[in-house]
Amino acid sequence: MSDDSERLDDPALYYQAHVFCCTNVRPEKHPRGSCARKNSVQLRDYMKKQVKESGLSGIRVNASGCLDRCELGCTMVIYPEGVWYTYSSEADIDEIIETHLRHGHRVKRLILETDQKNLFLGQGKR
Ligand code: FES
Repeated sequence: MSDDSERLDDPALYYQAHVFCCTNVRPEKHPRGSCARKNSVQLRDYMKKQVKESGLSGIRVNASGCLDRCELGCTMVIYPEGVWYTYSSEADIDEIIETHLRHGHRVKRLILETDQKNLFLGQGKR
């Protein structure tokens, strides 16, 4: 049996950017809401199509379950950087594709900061 704990280098990235878009749905009146009730399924499909048509390579756009920042959604997180965005329109998606995925910059107006929690129900409430 080999001892993997001695490995120093991670494997090369499989995707240059791996995007996870929450498509979780909750009942209509759930106190936390859910991204799918804010159109995330359609926006994720739009992003997937736009990335494909953009000619960008090495980018994967996946649907995800709840990312646990529901009140701030629609939410997505892009790895390997671990940058989070909130978005609500195709224009937001277009800007994320062009600014972040194509040029490696950030869309500051849409970024979710690490300490940014539940703005609508009170800090940290679940
Ligand atoms: S429902 Fe999207 S983050 Fe929880």
